[in-house]
Amino acid sequence: MDSLRELIDQDNNHNLLDLLSSLCQGSIAVDENCNILWMSNAYKELIDIAPDVDPTGCHVEQLLPTTQLPRVIKSGKPSFVDLMQIKHRWCVVTRLPIKNENQQTIGAIGFVFYDDLESLQPLFDKFARLRRKFEDEKILRPSRYALDDMLGRSQPTALLRRQALRAAQLDTTLLLLGETGTGKELLAQGIHHSSTRRSAPFVGINMGALPEALAEAELFGSAAGAYTGANSKGRVGKVQLADGGTLFLDEIAEMPLAMQAKLLRVLQEREVEALGSNRLEKVDVRIIAATAKDLRELVEKGQFREDLYYRLNVLPIKLPPLRERREDIPELSQHMLQQIQHQSQLPELSLSPAAHEWLKSYHWPGNIRELRNRIERGCVMAEGEFIEANDLGALDDLPHTTSNQPKATDLKSKRSQTEIDAIQQAIQNCNGNKTAAAKILGISRASLYLHLNKMSNK
Ligand SMILES: Nc1ncnc2c1ncn2[C@@H]1O[C@H](COP(=O)(O)OP(=O)(O)OP(=O)(O)O)[C@@H](O)[C@H]1O
Ligand SMILES: [Mg+2]
Repeated sequence: MDSLRELIDQDNNHNLLDLLSSLCQGSIAVDENCNILWMSNAYKELIDIAPDVDPTGCHVEQLLPTTQLPRVIKSGKPSFVDLMQIKHRWCVVTRLPIKNENQQTIGAIGFVFYDDLESLQPLFDKFARLRRKFEDEKILRPSRYALDDMLGRSQPTALLRRQALRAAQLDTTLLLLGETGTGKELLAQGIHHSSTRRSAPFVGINMGALPEALAEAELFGSAAGAYTGANSKGRVGKVQLADGGTLFLDEIAEMPLAMQAKLLRVLQEREVEALGSNRLEKVDVRIIAATAKDLRELVEKGQFREDLYYRLNVLPIKLPPLRERREDIPELSQHMLQQIQHQSQLPELSLSPAAHEWLKSYHWPGNIRELRNRIERGCVMAEGEFIEANDLGALDDLPHTTSNQPKATDLKSKRSQTEIDAIQQAIQNCNGNKTAAAKILGISRASLYLHLNKMSNK
């Protein structure tokens, strides 16, 4: 037997697998690359996957971000009893590596138990007591954003989640790169809360929102009476506040050059000097920086220090824009819709099929933030039980340059101008696909062609 897949394939009637499933409340098998070979229906139910969905071939971390199976494969060692939280339920799990005749690990199987755990009750009690103790001592802080809050099942999002999980295990400086609204802050917080620093503070600072004159004291602190009119007691800088934890430097490209030199010292020497103090303090912070700009280009223009760039660029993580992970849009919009309705206690609303189509085809310059704003707007604008594409602002923000025609003044020509703009925009958003464009516009393909004919005859 060379691979676990072969063994599973040989077990035509899945007798062995059925036997495994009957022994526990969930079982799973993965190959040596941690791709799922088999998952019992009970396991699917446990993690909210429909029974007819086939997860084979998926990387196990994609579905079970906290799984330890990759570790079992890597080490080749079993883990007989462990506690794992799956969808808020504590379970006992057993994981076994499967080896071939040459003792090479060719996969692993995992079992989950959560029923009939009486014999393990003392263990649970002890665990619960320790947990309470930790919580009492505020060692476990409630996290605002965990990696679990990152929604989306597209390939790029799954890859991002895996990179984030790995980055959380390391203590290196991270550079998050991504357009506005792609989730840089959410990711930074998620990484912090999954790292060993989770019990220490996460301190964020937005360099873009900080006036240059205040930036230094805000970031590095100031000694008592450091500058006239300032708080004579001095202030603690964000770097010192983050001691032991994570310092999130958002919009790092906006950091003034003078401050960049000081930050470099924090990164190199782990030391900070408060304004006017002449005293160096040791700090232990993990730095996560984020930017939507091309730092390399800024280095070339002399607007960003090259040495700092290399210090920050240890582990760059790229967040893909929403238009490159459109498969995430239905799940994200559904989640946001539910959240907004829950918060504002609006009557139940759903997105119309045309609105769904539009959401999937729009180019999303503002990414997930824009998606949320548009869904919010849809909730306010919807007239009936459905949010239509128009309610989401599908016909707004059309580029004013799409047409060279003179400005229309009377109602009729204004209307036809709006139509022309909407049609051009829809076609552009659908990369020229007219069938999709017609769907978004809520008209038939034939009538779209009629409009286009009319437009070209004008
Ligand atoms: N994968 C995701 N799942 C759910 N919500 C997300 C996801 N990514 C981002 N969001 C939400 O989108 C919004 C924007 O995210 P965030 O503020 O982290 O983006 P950003 O990249 O820091 O944006 P900016 O550059 O504008 O500061 C937030 O409300 C965040 O909760
Ligand atoms: Mg941000």
